[in-house]
Amino acid sequence: MSDVQQPTEVRLQSELDALVSNDAGPKPDGWRLTPRAVRSFILGDKRLGVGQKFFGDDPLVDRCLVTLMGNRGLLMVGEPGTAKSMLSELFAAAISGDSTLTAQGTAGSTEDQILYSWNYAMLIANGPSEEALVPGPILSGMRAGKLVRIEEITRMQAEVQDALIAVLSDKHLSIPQLGEAGFVGARRGFNLIATANLRDRGVHEMSSALKRRFNFETVRPIADPDLERQLILAQTERLLADAGVDVETPPDVVELLVTVFNELRSGTTREGVVVERPTAIMSTAEAVAINYAASLDAAYLGNGVPTGRHIGRQLIGTVLKDNPDDEAKLRNYLDVVVKKRSGVWKDLWGVRNELG
Ligand SMILES: Nc1ncnc2c1ncn2[C@@H]1O[C@H](COP(=O)(O)OP(=O)(O)OP(=O)(O)O)[C@@H](O)[C@H]1O
Ligand SMILES: [Mg+2]
Repeated sequence: MSDVQQPTEVRLQSELDALVSNDAGPKPDGWRLTPRAVRSFILGDKRLGVGQKFFGDDPLVDRCLVTLMGNRGLLMVGEPGTAKSMLSELFAAAISGDSTLTAQGTAGSTEDQILYSWNYAMLIANGPSEEALVPGPILSGMRAGKLVRIEEITRMQAEVQDALIAVLSDKHLSIPQLGEAGFVGARRGFNLIATANLRDRGVHEMSSALKRRFNFETVRPIADPDLERQLILAQTERLLADAGVDVETPPDVVELLVTVFNELRSGTTREGVVVERPTAIMSTAEAVAINYAASLDAAYLGNGVPTGRHIGRQLIGTVLKDNPDDEAKLRNYLDVVVKKRSGVWKDLWGVRNELG
């Protein structure tokens, strides 16, 4: 159990080693693995003991791989919690062996932060020089021929986003202060993976010049409840193992969690009853977070067995996250739907008195 969150390529080193030693066939310049092996890293390869990490849309992974081999950057858009960032980390870890060249987009992001900046003390003392230059993720990625991740690109101001146009189309960066030495051509293997979530403003405001230099891929919520259940169990297990907690979620409790999420996400129950959908995102990431928290609750405050009640306690926070007025919608769901169900649902009903 490591107490420090390691980058993906460190955490999954053994899987990457297994893939490297079994890898044959053509590799794009600068890639550590063949596209097939990168695909196996993400979608799993039982033969090599490589676990599946992304569920529910295998063709999306192939399309992203094709984009990353080409001249355009990859922009993954989608609802929050659909694994866009997770995918970009996995691609960078497998293709470049390094998922740490990352710029986190915020309204305050500057070109300096993503391209390069200067050590101003040195700059003032000795003028512009390689030593005074502080490479940002883009300059580092271009020099090393690695993938660079831009998280939440649409949160950046448009003019900062547009600094990427030259990077993507010309594949070079010029640092005028360094004269001739300031021409940095990107080494093969360099490309950009950006993410943007559809709840934030922005995708539409991206300049068309920048949009033209990205291939857009929409990452959708998992549609298949069975896959979602598999994923929730697999990810909770990994999180609990990292935390050194030994708890198993009973199958009917996971079933309850997946059902609640599907019903609140779609607005229709399995009996066909229409319920009001909360504003909050009922994403798979949220479901994993709820199951993990419920397991910790049961482990440290309960008898070690998660129940519908542990799920219920966490559900309240998730549903009310975006709009506290949605308490009425949750109350209604409990009164109209959950109350009528038996077994583990009775435990979920038990949180009713924790709502106003
Ligand atoms: N299809 C999926 N396959 C695997 N994990 C998924 C999938 N969809 C959601 N997840 C879960 O979502 C978690 C991570 O989500 P991530 O932070 O990458 O989402 P995101 O799309 O980047 O969200 P945001 O837009 O809020 O940044 C994963 O750790 C996993 O638990
Ligand atoms: Mg993200």
